[in-house]
This record gives sequence, structure tokens and C-alpha cells, in this order.
Amino acid sequence: MTRKILVTSALPYANGSIHLGHLVEYIQTDIWVRFLKMQGHTVHYVCADDTHGTPIMLRAEKEGLTPEALIEKVHAEHSQDFAEFLVQFDNYYSTNSEENRALSSNIYKALKANGKIATKTIEQYFDPVKQMFLPDRFIKGECPKCHAKDQYGDNCEVCGATYSPTDLIHPFSAVSGATPVRKETEHYFFKLSECADFLRDWTRSGTLQAEAANKMTEWVGEAGDNKLSDWDISRDAPYFGFEIPDAPGKYFYVWLDAPIGYMASFKNLCTKLGLDFDEYWKKDSTTELYHFIGKDILYFHALFWPATLEYSGHRTPTQVYAHGFLTVNGEKMSKSRGTFITARSYLEHVKNPEYLRYYYAAKLNGSMEDIDLNLEDFVARVNSDLVGKYINIASRTAGFIAKKFDHHMIETQHAVIDEMRAATDRIADAYAARDFARALREIMKLTDAANAYVAEAAPWLVAKEEGRLAELHRICSTALEMFRILTIYLKPVLPHIATSVETFFNVAPLQWVDAQQSLGQQTIAPYHHMVTRLDVKQIDAMVEANKAHLQTSATASPALNVAPSVVTPSPAATDYLSIEDFAKVDLRIAKIVNAQQVEGAEKLLQLTLDVGEATTRNVFAGIKSAYDPASLIGKTTVMVANLAPRKMKFGLSEGMVLAASDDRGGPFLLSPDVGALPGMRVK
Ligand code: MSP
Ligand code: ZN
Repeated sequence: MTRKILVTSALPYANGSIHLGHLVEYIQTDIWVRFLKMQGHTVHYVCADDTHGTPIMLRAEKEGLTPEALIEKVHAEHSQDFAEFLVQFDNYYSTNSEENRALSSNIYKALKANGKIATKTIEQYFDPVKQMFLPDRFIKGECPKCHAKDQYGDNCEVCGATYSPTDLIHPFSAVSGATPVRKETEHYFFKLSECADFLRDWTRSGTLQAEAANKMTEWVGEAGDNKLSDWDISRDAPYFGFEIPDAPGKYFYVWLDAPIGYMASFKNLCTKLGLDFDEYWKKDSTTELYHFIGKDILYFHALFWPATLEYSGHRTPTQVYAHGFLTVNGEKMSKSRGTFITARSYLEHVKNPEYLRYYYAAKLNGSMEDIDLNLEDFVARVNSDLVGKYINIASRTAGFIAKKFDHHMIETQHAVIDEMRAATDRIADAYAARDFARALREIMKLTDAANAYVAEAAPWLVAKEEGRLAELHRICSTALEMFRILTIYLKPVLPHIATSVETFFNVAPLQWVDAQQSLGQQTIAPYHHMVTRLDVKQIDAMVEANKAHLQTSATASPALNVAPSVVTPSPAATDYLSIEDFAKVDLRIAKIVNAQQVEGAEKLLQLTLDVGEATTRNVFAGIKSAYDPASLIGKTTVMVANLAPRKMKFGLSEGMVLAASDDRGGPFLLSPDVGALPGMRVK
């Protein structure tokens, strides 16, 4: 049976960049959606920027922009980041849209007609200079507990105490610095206290993970012991948001219209695709609705949101899936440690988004536990699983099919293939339950079995022997069929690689059922390597860049905004080198087969280099300050192979390796692109 499914991820705020923490959620949701789509269900995945509220208004003002201009700029950045991480929304919209304004007004009116809206006069802090009411976050002062200065109105970052802004000693406005005054104002409330019976049932009806349901029970309280207070849904002007109907100068609090933004994004998609919006949102809808969120916003999604829907005449969510928070190297993401990593800097340094998708998938199990990105483990894991195991199956066999069999595969059978087909439901169940870690464990077990098959069949040996051509054909076709099935199972996580594999096999986009049919006789395309190894240096550079970014933004002042001039003088015409002269330098790819310290040498390391000759070369290189010898072994670099050998105190140096440096740092050893082999000439 095909299901009709609407899926959302939380709407990121439009005043900040997407970072690796956010991506835990968007990658997770995307994997789930891609899996359901591969199974043939009708799935729509929508999201949007969350654009309203005081922080965005003030941020725009600081940048000298209108809020509309700021959110437009951020929308473009967010869309680009998500696209490059292969997060494929069916619609990525904005809460500042006409659809959202209309839906928010209508929902508010329905709640009001249902007797669920009340007004109350409350007292709030007011900035007399800026002439605005201040959210807690914008009031600072001295911590009432430890007396640390300059703490926020809701909690102290020094001692961890939580309190309300009225408790602060010497409070001041973070916007203007003025001393805030208490001022009365009328606010609108959603009478959540009257929804307790409904919420008690709803939160216990299987819509939440067990741990979330328990938390909600605590918050709602037992029957007769109602713990819910009414929810303040209005803010006074100036505010960037939607004005409340018939209440001039009063605006919907951002969290009122933000989840309605899910509906608005879908409504916009309905217009584009000609879908029936009401079929998905009417009270007894038979379609399914899933929200993926972080555990920090559970309260909004498990209490306010279902109550808003219920009492405005809509369906409620089928399930809310909460996940934990990302830690990096076992600690909270930190700007000073460089582990508050933006999506953009990952893309600049690591580039391949599928490494991160794979790593997150391997860690996500559908629970609310935090997940850790251990950077060292990250490198080891993607290199070993993706490059060393999965891609290896194709890279060791595809070439023979091209060279020896004119790109033709034959029909094959094998027990490992049967085992792969038999695992299909187990893997599907794990994906469906959002236990991607379990799905990948199953898939990697099968990958190991495929590798064991290839290792034992040893096609590279069979290829060298006469009369074993048919056997070679069978081995390579079998291995590639295994590779194809594994690709199907990995496709929700690795959609980009899957596309390359589809091109390679000359097949239509792979669906889940395709694992059950064999590819059989097929003419395949030339094989191109699909993933390269991740180098730990890329990670180091990324962490460094996130630290550097902090430094420049922390110290940036107008005077310093001019980049220091790094001028490379261009050589005078007479300084030019002829191509013949350059050709005299014999540059070669060299593999570092050994590297060690040199007793008594301050700057030198001793390198043993394979340059494709019968014997290795011994070279002393002045790179000790920048490299640990163990880290160099196995790397390839570039050497000058025809430099006159030089007798040094420590021995004979038979060449020179190339490295870059200047007063900004170094030496940085050169490394060729993947594929270069020892002895290749550099020209
Ligand atoms: N705008 C609200 C959501 C409104 S939904 C109607 C919001 N935005 S957010 O940008 O702060 O966060 C967006 C999502 O990313 C949330 O689900 C949040 O939990 C998640 N994450 C933000 N930082 C995270 C980590 N460090 N780790 C995991 N998820 C994180 O909340
Ligand atoms: Zn304190």
C-alpha cells in the first residue's frame, strides 16, 4: 500500500548560519524521506526559515538591513548549504509568507471562536531609550547568586543558576544599555491550561518516544493536578512578525506562527504541484504527518503545537521524533576550540557531504541520546567503510569488465547475493525505525562478505592465467552485482554516490525493490573512482578555520577590515625561465616509505622515498618543526630527483622534497592529487 506522508524538519532561525549540529537533524530527516520514497510511497518533505522575532529584527538593524533583506540573504545561504549536503526538501520556504500570514490568522480566529484565547495585563521590562519591551535574553545584569557581571536575564553562564530577569542585580538593556523599567501591557494568551486532558491523552497515545512521553507527563501533570499554565502568544510593537487580527500594535509571538510555517510551506507546495492541502490537514486525515525536531524544542511540538491544531479544527501529528544534540570530540561544540563548525566551512575543507551523512547515519539510532562527532574516528570510519570496503568491491573488479569483456556483464548467482537479498526487510525495518546505525551495521556485514568473496576469488591473479577468462568474467560480474545491491541499501545515506553508480551500470534511479532482481547481462560504462580517502589534514584545516573565523570576528574593527597586503612581486621580464630550463628539473612523485628523526639534527627528518626506481632514495628534509615522522609514512609528495647528491653531516641526501612556507606558516609538504603513483614525472 502506498502511503501519503508529510515530513518536516524544524525551521532554522534566519539569523545564523547552518552548523554541523543542525545537520544532525536535516541529514537524519533526509535519509528517512529518501528511504520512504525509494519504497514507492508518496512523501513530501517541507521546511522553511523561521524568520520572525526580536533577535532577527535587531540583527537586521545592526547590519543596516531591513528584516526582509536579511531573511532573504539568509534564505539563499541556508538553501545553498542544504542543497550541498544533499538535503532534498520538496519545498524550502519562509515563515514570512502570505500563506503563513493567512493560516496563522485563521488558526488564531478558530482558537478564539473556540474560547481558547484570553487577554491579561502583565508587567514586563521595557527599554525606555529604545522604546521597546525586552525579551529575557536582552536583559543583562549581575548574577544574584555568584555576582558574576554581564549575565543574561534567564541564566548565569558562570555558575549555571537559572532565574528570572527581575532577580538580576543592576539590570540593563543589552540593546541600549539603559536601565529597564517595569511597564504594564496587555498580552494575548492561548488557554493551554484548558487543554490538559487532551494533551495527557495525546502525549501518551504513541505519538512520542517513550522518554519524551515521560517528560510530557511530568510537564502536563496528572488529572486533577494540572501543571500547565496559559501560553503568552503576543508581543508588542516594535516586533518583526504578523500583526494579530483586530489587535493593532500586537504581534504573534514567533513560536505561534513558526510551526504553522510547516503548513504554509506545504500549502505553497500544493499550489506548485496541484495537491489537496486539506486532505493532509483536515481533522480525520488519513495521511501521515511526522515532525523531526531536537530535544530542546519538544515542549513546543508536543504541547503547544498539537493543542493549537486540535482546537483550531485540524489533524494532529502522527509522530514527533526528537533527537539529541551533537557533541564534537565528546564536548559541547565550542567556538574557541574550533569545533563550532559551520556547514560552509565543512564544505570548503572536507568537501564531500556524504562522509558526514555516512558518519551521522552510523551513529543515529532513533533515540534522544546526544551523538558525538569524534573527528579522528570520523576520518578512520569513512576511509575504512566507504573507501576501503564498499567502493573497493567495484574498484577491484570493474576494470576487468571494461578491458577484457568490452564492458559486458553476465548473469550470475552466488550465496552472498542471496544473503543480501534476504536481508532486505531487516534493513528496511531499521531505516523505517530511524535506527540507521542498525541498518548500516547490517549493510557493512554484507559488504564484508562481498569483500571476502573478492579476496578469495582474487580476480587479479585469475586475470594473469591462461584459459581462465570465463571464470574472471563470472567473478567480476558477481562482485559488481553485490556492489549494486549494496548501493541500493546505502542510497538513502549516499544519494550522490548512488547516482554515479546508476550511471556506471546504465540503469534508471535505483529503487528498493531493485535489490531483488538481478541486473543480468548489461553493458556498463567506464568506471571512475567515486570516493577518495579523507585526509586528517582536511579536518585540521577545518577546525583551524573555525577558530580563525572567531578571532577575526571578535577583533574586527573598521580599521582592521582591510586585508593585510600580501604582495607577490611579479618577476621582471629578464627573470623569466625558459621552458627548456624548467624541463631540466626532474620532478617526480615520491612515496614516503619511511620517515624518522635524525639524532642530533634540529630541523631535519630522514625520509626514505620510493620514486619508482629499483632502490629507494635517502633524503634529509627540513620539515621537523611541522611534521611528526609517523604521520608522513605512506604519503606521496613531489621531489627533485636530479639534484646533485649532497654529503651531509648525517649522511648522503639524494634529492629534495618540495614544501611551501613563508612567515604565515609552514613548511607544508606538497601532495599530488589522488591517483599519482611513485616515479611519475611532474611537468
Ligand atoms: N526556529 C526554531 C524551530 C522552529 S520549528 C517550528 C529553532 N531553530 S534552530 O535553528 O535553533 O534549530 C533548528 C533545529 O536544529 C532544532 O530542531 C534544533 O534542535 C536543531 N539543532 C540546533 N543545534 C543542534 C545541535 N547542536 N545538535 C543537534 N541538533 C541541533 O529551534
Ligand atoms: Zn552566577
